[in-house]
Amino acid sequence: MLQQERPCPIDVESPTLSDCGGIGVRGTNTLTMLFREDCVLEEALQQLYKSNPESSPLSVVSAGCSVGAEADSLIALHSQSGFGGRLAVTGFDISPVAVKAANTGRYFLPASVAQDEDVFAKTRSTLTDYGFTPDFHNIHRSPDLYRGTRSSRGYYQIGATSLRAGHEVVFTEHDLAEEAPLKGTAHLVVANNVLYHLSPERATRALQNIATILTQNGVLNLGDITLSERTSPWVERNVELLEEEFNLKPIVFGPIDQPVMFARDQLHA
Ligand SMILES: C[S@@+](CC[C@H](N)C(=O)[O-])C[C@H]1O[C@@H](n2cnc3c(N)ncnc32)[C@H](O)[C@@H]1O
Repeated sequence: MLQQERPCPIDVESPTLSDCGGIGVRGTNTLTMLFREDCVLEEALQQLYKSNPESSPLSVVSAGCSVGAEADSLIALHSQSGFGGRLAVTGFDISPVAVKAANTGRYFLPASVAQDEDVFAKTRSTLTDYGFTPDFHNIHRSPDLYRGTRSSRGYYQIGATSLRAGHEVVFTEHDLAEEAPLKGTAHLVVANNVLYHLSPERATRALQNIATILTQNGVLNLGDITLSERTSPWVERNVELLEEEFNLKPIVFGPIDQPVMFARDQLHA
């Protein structure tokens, strides 16, 4: 079971952070966050190292990567974890706009963070601690696209360039429902908050494709926003598919007993 009592590395008391400790960043037309479900991402990294103690770089796929926040969060958490070694992170997303933004490695904090001095100071120190480039003095006047609202606000820009140094990071346009590149290569696939965007048929195909990306002892993290009940029935239906077609069994469960992490038999031992 997930260790719910384990403290999140981000201060969840802050009004700008979600229950799961995420920092909203300006994304595309869909919401993404730095350190979204950070406890789950940490757990995924733990499982990754448990199943591959010797490998470096470890190959990680962020399926439905949006503007790269999930990939960068994994790198940041990995750097703090003391695991050592390098990550080779590939992000897949169907949106060319998202992929382009992800490859720039630049984030814009939403006005709600940027304009509140206390919140901003706390966020800045957290992000700097995690290795993001402290390019915080760069204030942009541009339309606020965050969560679809439009108003003239300032942005603080943060970068992931220094954070990514030493790791291999690449973001590529790819529809998860299409046959996956990189078959049998990923030690960890994180597919959070993406499959609910697809029709049930395409989502099942996407899940099958995702499962083929994994190495023999690869770990799959499959989750939804705050691990809600919304996709629980969908995940439940597909647990059977993962077990029967790919021999992937649940190894970690979320707060509502929804499986969030899957691996093949050897990890149970
Ligand atoms: C809500 S965001 C989630 C981003 C990130 N995984 C997270 O948890 O913050 C969903 C992302 O999935 C992408 N997406 C939707 N359908 C997709 C598909 N068929 N193949 C690849 N990406 C897809 C969207 O473009 C969007 O960037």
